[in-house]
Amino acid sequence: MVAIIVHGGAGKANSKEEIPPRIETCKKAAAEGYKVLKDGGSAIDAAVKAVMIFENDPLFNAGIGSYLNEKGEVELDAGIMDGKSLKIGAVSGIKHVKNPILLARAIMENSKHNFLIGEGAEEFAIKQNLEIVPNDYFITKQKKKNFLSKFGDTVGAVALDKNGRIASAVSTGGTPNKAEGRVGDSPLAGSGFYANETYGAVATGIGEDIMRAVLSFRISLEIEKGIEKATESAIKYLTEINGKAGLIALNSDGNVAFVYNTEMMFHGYMKEGMEGPIGGI
Ligand code: GLY
Repeated sequence: MVAIIVHGGAGKANSKEEIPPRIETCKKAAAEGYKVLKDGGSAIDAAVKAVMIFENDPLFNAGIGSYLNEKGEVELDAGIMDGKSLKIGAVSGIKHVKNPILLARAIMENSKHNFLIGEGAEEFAIKQNLEIVPNDYFITKQKKKNFLSKFGDTVGAVALDKNGRIASAVSTGGTPNKAEGRVGDSPLAGSGFYANETYGAVATGIGEDIMRAVLSFRISLEIEKGIEKATESAIKYLTEINGKAGLIALNSDGNVAFVYNTEMMFHGYMKEGMEGPIGGI
């Protein structure tokens, strides 16, 4: 069994017109990640591929199109985890790396550390020959307009490969108008993402809330009830502590879950036996 689930952010759309193209991109990310898995690629390869599709699409709050901070700049966070080795790569507060998920992966695979921030992370990116861009590259007209929006979202993917390995990957511009230097849940293993041999998960929503619940790891607490019930319980707990977010999750049997207490969560998934990806809100 190979399978992938992706999300393009929880919250609400800024306009009705945004909804269909966002769902289309979720389906595209799921389909392209699935193709990687069918061609024998690893869960890491597939999750990174899917997240890069979102990072390169200006409609989403990751990579190009990210929200601006209170100084009018873009600061990016990303994280990745391999469920078999429990290796982590995470990055925060970067301003010039075109695809932050590639930097998270490079940290996981080629660095002695788990988590790099700011200038040190960008120096490492240069050594890894990753593409560097001016900060203006990330700033789209649409996101400038939404500078004062209260909506926070993120993108992510969880994949299961033919060897039964699970990987989770996440990327975000954080919340709109955030303080310079603010770090959300996304690059924090356990909160924004988590993977082990049983399941993987990625969160989206208000990072300050997600961290209080350690939301992605929280699924572990009731995993014996199945991935759907465990994911529902994690979001139920978040609601009890007045948090707002969504979660996607996938287990080693290829079962998917997507649960949120926001107005909507853009998502898509594809697994063996399906003719094409399913996408929705
Ligand atoms: N969930 C993304 C953030 O709060 O930064």
